[in-house]
Amino acid sequence: MSAAAEIVFDHVTKRYAGRDAPALDDLSLEIPAGTFCVLVGPSGGGKTTALKMVNRLIPFDSGDIRIDGRSVRDLPLTELRRGIGYVIQQIGLFPHQTVGENIATVPRLLGWPKRQTAERTVELLELVGLEARDAERYPAQLSGGQRQRVGLARALAADPPLLLMDEPFGALDPITRFRLQTELRRLHREVGKTVIFVTHDVDEAIQMGDRIAILREGGVLAQYDTPDAILAHPADDFVAQFVGEDRALRRLALRTLRDVTLEPGSQSEPGSRVSPDTTVRNAVSLMLETGDEQLVVVDGDRVLGVFHLRDAGELL
Ligand SMILES: Nc1ncnc2c1ncn2[C@@H]1O[C@H](COP(=O)(O)OP(=O)(O)OP(=O)(O)O)[C@@H](O)[C@H]1O
Ligand SMILES: [Mg+2]
Repeated sequence: MSAAAEIVFDHVTKRYAGRDAPALDDLSLEIPAGTFCVLVGPSGGGKTTALKMVNRLIPFDSGDIRIDGRSVRDLPLTELRRGIGYVIQQIGLFPHQTVGENIATVPRLLGWPKRQTAERTVELLELVGLEARDAERYPAQLSGGQRQRVGLARALAADPPLLLMDEPFGALDPITRFRLQTELRRLHREVGKTVIFVTHDVDEAIQMGDRIAILREGGVLAQYDTPDAILAHPADDFVAQFVGEDRALRRLALRTLRDVTLEPGSQSEPGSRVSPDTTVRNAVSLMLETGDEQLVVVDGDRVLGVFHLRDAGELL
């Protein structure tokens, strides 16, 4: 497998024994290498099933799943799973092993020299925002958010080209969750892996995904596109309802003032001062709160330009 893998679901169908409705119905999805792809949808839509078919924890009935052009059915199971980092909610850390030992699970299986494994462990702890000395601690001595970071570090240990993540942040408080979401996005930019990330939270999907696949009940793909395209043009009523009536505001949240054309302005310009990293949604919210028609975008002492309330409408 390459540094980041291309994943293709090709007309995949799955029926569990004793159930009439398929869990996944003719799913076709192309995920280009390096994409952060989010599977989202209501409970029972087949998200976990789709994910577990990639590493063959669940067999499928028909169709095919290919990683870099090779069917997962043709890959030896050990080779397949070593190429995949798998992160699931809450579970998974070995309680009687230290954080360091947990992270080194796959390198140990692969027979890496001790020193290389130790160096990699420290590197990963830093990458996920923990400290080198946390390696000595046990999972029970960590907070939920810290455990989740260890799970992520363990999944990344042997540098797999594909990460599968099933609601990894579901059990976290909103603040920890936001922090880990931000970090995972940064990490994705840095390490450039292909990620398939499952959530039932549409906000999380919009914030995290380069592309979003929306699965509806019965395992039917309702829409597959970029967050902006889905918010701007929901494929049908189901998608429109799922992404919410405030989808226009959600689109504005995808952009910051750095991404929009500002009108030139000087220091004497009236209006609140905001950083270019402010989202357009927050800029609008601020203007509605203060009653101003415009904001001045500043970088330290430098005025970058002026953003008007009416500009927001034009962006949609
Ligand atoms: N082992 C199983 N045997 C029978 N049916 C199953 C099994 N696992 C899942 N299902 C059914 O398949 C469908 C899809 O389940 P799946 O777990 O993939 O949904 P999901 O989208 O991950 O839902 P959630 O958001 O609740 O995690 C559901 O109707 C579920 O009841
Ligand atoms: Mg699930």
